[in-house]
Amino acid sequence: MIASSAGFAAMAEQQCQQAAFLKQVAASFGKASDSYISAARLQQQVARDALAMLPAEANGCLLDVGCGPGWLHPEFSRYCAAFSAVDLSEGMLHKARTQQLATAYIQADAASLPLADRQFDKLFSSLMLQWCPTPKTALAEMARVLAADGRLVISTLIKGTLTELRDAFATLDQQAHIHSFLTADELITAARQLPDISWQFERRSYQLYYPDVQTLARELKALGANQVAGRSQSGLTGKGYWRKLAAAYEQHRCQDGIPATYQVLFIQGTKHGR
Ligand SMILES: C[S@@+](CC[C@H](N)C(=O)[O-])C[C@H]1O[C@@H](n2cnc3c(N)ncnc32)[C@H](O)[C@@H]1O
Repeated sequence: MIASSAGFAAMAEQQCQQAAFLKQVAASFGKASDSYISAARLQQQVARDALAMLPAEANGCLLDVGCGPGWLHPEFSRYCAAFSAVDLSEGMLHKARTQQLATAYIQADAASLPLADRQFDKLFSSLMLQWCPTPKTALAEMARVLAADGRLVISTLIKGTLTELRDAFATLDQQAHIHSFLTADELITAARQLPDISWQFERRSYQLYYPDVQTLARELKALGANQVAGRSQSGLTGKGYWRKLAAAYEQHRCQDGIPATYQVLFIQGTKHGR
């Protein structure tokens, strides 16, 4: 099929937007590299749940994609003989590198891994995929670098995440304030289109509680997880706006505080031997 010039222009525009979003994501996580670990309550729980899905055998080479500050790396010695770490953000990678545990620290986009095919026996990626503008390409790349009989475990946030915050914002204006997460079905369909892998999927819901909406917003900022593609204004300022947002969120308050729901899809795959 031959694309029209309007089609090419639209594709070029989309690629520009994706490149701009990647830059924003890298900068935001870079800025958060010092505050990330202490704010990463959910991320630590999910990453540990994902790691437990890999066989605890200290053999083979593992690749950690979207490694962040590498807080989990000391635990990898129970799951592989050696590992390499990839992250888009130089700041996060710098933090991870200070531990000197990985064979290589590689600054790269998961959708374009500068690595040979079938190089790794295990692939691990926790809460990175939802930040990829082209998650299908990132999934394909992660599958490509996996060796025959290799195992991969990926966790990612899906639609339904931060739904209380999204609803509270929706009472104030029509802007996108929350990152747009894919549905589990969209990701499952994308994964199933990749050849040579047997897949297993599991959804889990996590709930965290906060004293107020400002604390939740501060945590998202400390994590670097406050980027929204195509958002025209970068943040909220007015006290009145925060008061209205807090009032809208209050309807969810319970004994433990205000809840924030995080929906996670765990994707496990085994590459067919050949
Ligand atoms: C939420 S943090 C998760 C870090 C770590 N895996 C954890 O579980 O704590 C997401 C990480 O993915 C990285 N990241 C985001 N988009 C990426 C991409 N396209 N390619 C590689 N890394 C990416 C970010 O820089 C950040 O370090």
